Amino acid sequence: MNHENPKRLGTVVCRNESPNVRGFSFVIEGESGNTLVRRGQFVSVPFQSGIVIARVSEIIQTNRYFQQAEAVREYQLRGEPLRSVFPTDRWQYAVAEAQVLGFWVNEKSARATTSVSPGAVVRTIDDDILHRFLGLEGDEGLNLGTLVHHAINFSPSVDSLLSKHLAVLAMSGAGKSYFVSVLLEEILSRKRDEGRLATIVIDVHGEYSYLKHVTAKDLGLEEDAFEIEHIRGTHIQIPASSLSADTIASFVAKMSSVQRRELRRIISIMSNESNSYNLRGIIDVIRNDQTINKNTKEALIGWLINLEDTHLFGKEGVPYLPNIVRPGKITVVDLSDFISLKKKQIIVSYLVGDLIYKRRQSMIPPFLLVLEEAHQFCPESRHELALPKSKIETIAREGRKFFALLCLISQRPVKLSTTVLSQCSNQAVLKCTNPYDLEHIGRSSEGIDRASLDAITTLDVGEALFIGNSVTVPTFVNIRKRKFNPSGTETTLSDAIRRADKS
Ligand SMILES: Nc1ncnc2c1ncn2[C@@H]1O[C@H](COP(=O)(O)OP(=O)(O)OP(=O)(O)O)[C@@H](O)[C@H]1O
Ligand SMILES: [Mg+2]
Repeated sequence: MNHENPKRLGTVVCRNESPNVRGFSFVIEGESGNTLVRRGQFVSVPFQSGIVIARVSEIIQTNRYFQQAEAVREYQLRGEPLRSVFPTDRWQYAVAEAQVLGFWVNEKSARATTSVSPGAVVRTIDDDILHRFLGLEGDEGLNLGTLVHHAINFSPSVDSLLSKHLAVLAMSGAGKSYFVSVLLEEILSRKRDEGRLATIVIDVHGEYSYLKHVTAKDLGLEEDAFEIEHIRGTHIQIPASSLSADTIASFVAKMSSVQRRELRRIISIMSNESNSYNLRGIIDVIRNDQTINKNTKEALIGWLINLEDTHLFGKEGVPYLPNIVRPGKITVVDLSDFISLKKKQIIVSYLVGDLIYKRRQSMIPPFLLVLEEAHQFCPESRHELALPKSKIETIAREGRKFFALLCLISQRPVKLSTTVLSQCSNQAVLKCTNPYDLEHIGRSSEGIDRASLDAITTLDVGEALFIGNSVTVPTFVNIRKRKFNPSGTETTLSDAIRRADKS
C-alpha cells in the first residue's frame, strides 16, 4: 500500500452549480493536466477536522483558443494552424469532475452533509484510509485482484462476498467465466481451519472441466487439501419417484386437467407401494389400469415413453448428493453434452430441488451453487419455458438462512429474473454495453450511482465493478490473473483454425 504523503492534484473551482454536497470540479495541476488524474480514481480534500473522499467521474480537456468554432475554421482556411500563431499549449488544461462519496472524520466514515469550498486543494488519498473507508477486509479473504488506479488488494471475506448470493453480470467475452475461475481458485485455496466451502458448478459449455487437472502446486499450496470431481451430464440420473404429476406435466406441453388428475392418482398409488421405481413402472401401471379412459391412457403413455427416451430418469438418484457436496470439494456438472435446453433445465431443476431439500435436512454442508447462463434457467419472462425457475427463486429468497448460496452468471441481465437478481446482495459487473441490460442492473441493485453505471460501458476485459455487501461504495477492481491456465483453450478464431489445420 502507498503511504506517501498525499500529493497535490488540483484546485476546486466554481462550475455548473458546483461545488455542492454531491460533487465538485477541480482544475488538474500541471501543463495539460491529463497524466496526474484518471477517471475512477479516488481523491481527497482536507476539510475541517477530516477529509472529503470523492471519486473522479469525468475529465474534461479545455482550451479557450479552441472554443470558437468559427475562429478555428478561419485560421484553418488561412492555412495557419492556431498553434503557430498563439501560445495555445499554455492555455490547455483539464478539469476533473468528482463525485463525493463521504467524509472521513475521527477515523470513521460519515455522510457528506456540506460542500467543499472553491479554492480547496484536491490531493491523492492515503491507501490505508481508502481501505478502511471502502470497508475492505484484510488480505486473508478471497484474493480477487486490486483496486483500479490504487495499489490496494481486493480481498473480500466469504461472509461479505458470498453469504447473500453473488451475481456476475456482463456482456459476452468481458471476463465473467475468467473471474469465476479466479473465485474458484480462491475457494480451493482455503485451509481446513478457515472452513472450506462445498461448491457445485453447473457448467453449461464445459468451460470448467479443465479444473480436474488443477493440483495444489498449481495454486501454490503445500497441502493437497481439496478435491475436484467432474461429472458428465449424461451420467446424471433422476429418480422417477421424485417426479410428481405436476412436475411431469411441466415437462410436456398441454397436459389436460383430467390427464393430470389420473397421473396424480397413479403416482400416489405407486409411491404408497414403493419409493423406488422407474418410468417404465409408471407406464406399466397405467397400461394395466382399468379405470382410465382410452385416450387419456394413450396420451399419458406417449408422454412417459418420450421422457424415458431422454435417458435422464431411472430408479435411483445419481449422483448421491452427500457424496459430491462436501467441504473442500468442487464438483463440476458438465452439461455440454446436451444440445437440448429442456434437458439441461430438467437436470438443473432436479439438482437445485435436491440441493435445497438435502441442505434443509442438514444432509449436506453449506454450499455455493455456481450457475452459468443463469438467464436460461431463471428468466424474467413468464412466456419462456423455465423448469428450474421457482426452485432457483426459492434458493435466492430463503437460501441465505440455511447457507444454500448462489453465484449466478449471465450475459443477458435483462433476461434474468428480477426476483433473483434483487436477492443477490453482491454483484460483480464487468463490461456491458447493452442499454437495456445496464438499465436492468441499475434498477435491481441498490446503491449503484449513475456515474458508476456509465463507467460500466468503458471497462476493459477483466475489470469489474463490485456493488453490495463487500464494499461500502461501488468499487472498480482489476481481476487478478489465474494461477492455473488451462492448456488447449483457444481464445481467438485464428488460434482455433490454426490448430484445426494442423490436426
Ligand atoms: N482478468 C483477466 N485477465 C486476463 N485475461 C482475461 C481476464 N478476464 C478475461 N480474460 C480473457 O478474456 C476472454 C474472455 O473471457 P471469458 O471467457 O471469461 O468471458 P465471458 O464473460 O465468460 O464470456 P461469455 O459470456 O461468452 O461466456 C478470455 O480469453 C480470457 O482469457
Ligand atoms: Mg463465460
